[in-house]
Amino acid sequence: MHFDLFTLLPEVFPSYLNSSMMKRAQEKNLLSFGVHNIRDWTHDKHHVTDDYPYGGGGGMIMKPEPIFEAVEDVIGSPPDCPIILLTPQGRVFTQNEAQRLALEPKLALLCGRYEGVDERVRTHLVTDEISIGDYVLTGGELPALILIDALTRLIPGVLGDEKGAANDSHASGLLEGAHYTRPAKFRGWEVPAVLRSGDHAKVAQWRREQALLRTLERNPEMLSKIDLSKKDKVFLKAQKTSF
Ligand code: ADE
Repeated sequence: MHFDLFTLLPEVFPSYLNSSMMKRAQEKNLLSFGVHNIRDWTHDKHHVTDDYPYGGGGGMIMKPEPIFEAVEDVIGSPPDCPIILLTPQGRVFTQNEAQRLALEPKLALLCGRYEGVDERVRTHLVTDEISIGDYVLTGGELPALILIDALTRLIPGVLGDEKGAANDSHASGLLEGAHYTRPAKFRGWEVPAVLRSGDHAKVAQWRREQALLRTLERNPEMLSKIDLSKKDKVFLKAQKTSF
């Protein structure tokens, strides 16, 4: 999968993109990036990328010309991939959305700054607008990294264990239950005996129940969005909740 990033802060990307999972994915040629400084597509002496809003009001707006030129130069026109604007006005990013986008071989991510981008960028250049949550950041760079991170771990071959991503919190429609590693006893707190029993069927059933419980406690709305088995329903009823 290839990402083309368009930003006024290209320097924030390399350290994260070249660490850990993303570094390994690049080494395996499963992932590649182009980081493009929008300022490089300005033509004036001071490389201005923003301007005052028509009609007055506070804040500065990102000018359309360098953004259009940068994206058209790199991606081509018409574009051969989705062009996503990271903005708090976008559709809120979810695991479902991540799964959908991870099927694309290439994505262009446009990181807004200041009060936003000129409306013509939204209406005539970008194909999609995504928000990472209902709060406002100073720019789209962190949201872009979050999106890339979520997508990278869904690319086949990136996670060591292919089942890992399928069992993730949210991917299965449930939150994941508790995990333990050694030691079996830490400060008097013991790892549940079933996990040490070697009985794979029992372990699987316990994990399913823990995931159901955790989801019930922390995000019960999720339970109404998935197909629960008879066994799941019996278990949840037994929790004496209103479910
Ligand atoms: N830019 C500023 N805030 C944002 C958010 N919540 N999501 C995506 N892009 C943003």
